[in-house]
Amino acid sequence: MNIDDKNNSLSVELDNVRLRNPTMLASGILGISQSIFERLYRENIGAVVTKSISVSPMKGYPNPTVIPLGGGSYLNAVGLSNPGVDAFSRELSHNKNIPIFISLVGSSEKEFSRMVKTFDSLNILGYEINLSCPHVSKMGMEVGDDPEAVNKIVKTVRMNTSKPISVKVGVGSVDVIELARVAIDAGANIITAINTLRAMSIDIETMMPILSNRIGGLSGNAIKPIGIRCVYEISKKLEVPVIGCGGVSSWRDVIEYMIAGATAVQIGSVLGSRGPRIFNQITKALLNYVENKNLKNISEIIGIAHKY
Ligand SMILES: Cc1cc2nc3c(=O)[nH]c(=O)nc-3n(C[C@H](O)[C@H](O)[C@H](O)COP(=O)(O)O)c2cc1C
Repeated sequence: MNIDDKNNSLSVELDNVRLRNPTMLASGILGISQSIFERLYRENIGAVVTKSISVSPMKGYPNPTVIPLGGGSYLNAVGLSNPGVDAFSRELSHNKNIPIFISLVGSSEKEFSRMVKTFDSLNILGYEINLSCPHVSKMGMEVGDDPEAVNKIVKTVRMNTSKPISVKVGVGSVDVIELARVAIDAGANIITAINTLRAMSIDIETMMPILSNRIGGLSGNAIKPIGIRCVYEISKKLEVPVIGCGGVSSWRDVIEYMIAGATAVQIGSVLGSRGPRIFNQITKALLNYVENKNLKNISEIIGIAHKY
């Protein structure tokens, strides 16, 4: 169902890109077909981030890869399974009007340059560089924990595109603000915070780790206060639009992230239980909030918590 937002009171500006509302799909959730992205758009999503794509196809880890922990939290080690750059660029080749950020993952500057050269002629908004997946070797957080590698990779992506680049940071061994600063200095326009947190769960009967990869990433409700803290610190200290992510399951969580300093907010794990319709529900509730608070535009609340 369409949201009647005549005054564009939910629209937000992410770098030089305008989203019709601040809601986004988090990377790796709900598959990667164009038809799913179109369904999400009909549910009033602001923008989509794709699964992280690598140069070559990746199979991922054997099952179990995602386990519910209760209380709206999850542990996953999917292993970045994806079809690779060539197959995915064919999938998106007919995209006309869906606002899509492609998430990129890789180990070297060469891989990132090859991917951006292939994707850049597609009808997409920009890129999100995944420097924070906590459970795949030589990728994601293993790159993000090396500021020199971050500098080189972001510079390479910058050299190959004029579209906005968001760098997705997480909680690793390098301070999140420091990592964001390196990324911005190298040419990133936006920071996404945060990814899942490195975590583990053990079955007390079999006495074995539950995930086939042993270590995975914690997501959902449990990580929301950490996400809020990271968004607050990054947006307070650095002049950069921030996309908040982690543990969002309601319109109230979206508002909390925006007050902490987020310009847009990604939604991930909760889609497993609530499905794509949650975007329509949240957008409607955001419109009510804006009306009740007499705001001209939802952007007026971004970073209000910085006063404290
Ligand atoms: C099953 C699953 C797969 C994910 N795959 C990716 C991925 O490919 N790239 C990425 O940057 N983040 C990935 N993430 C992390 C999410 O995008 C998000 O940062 C994290 O789950 C926190 O948000 P949430 O609490 O709303 O789920 C994945 C998360 C889950 C649960």
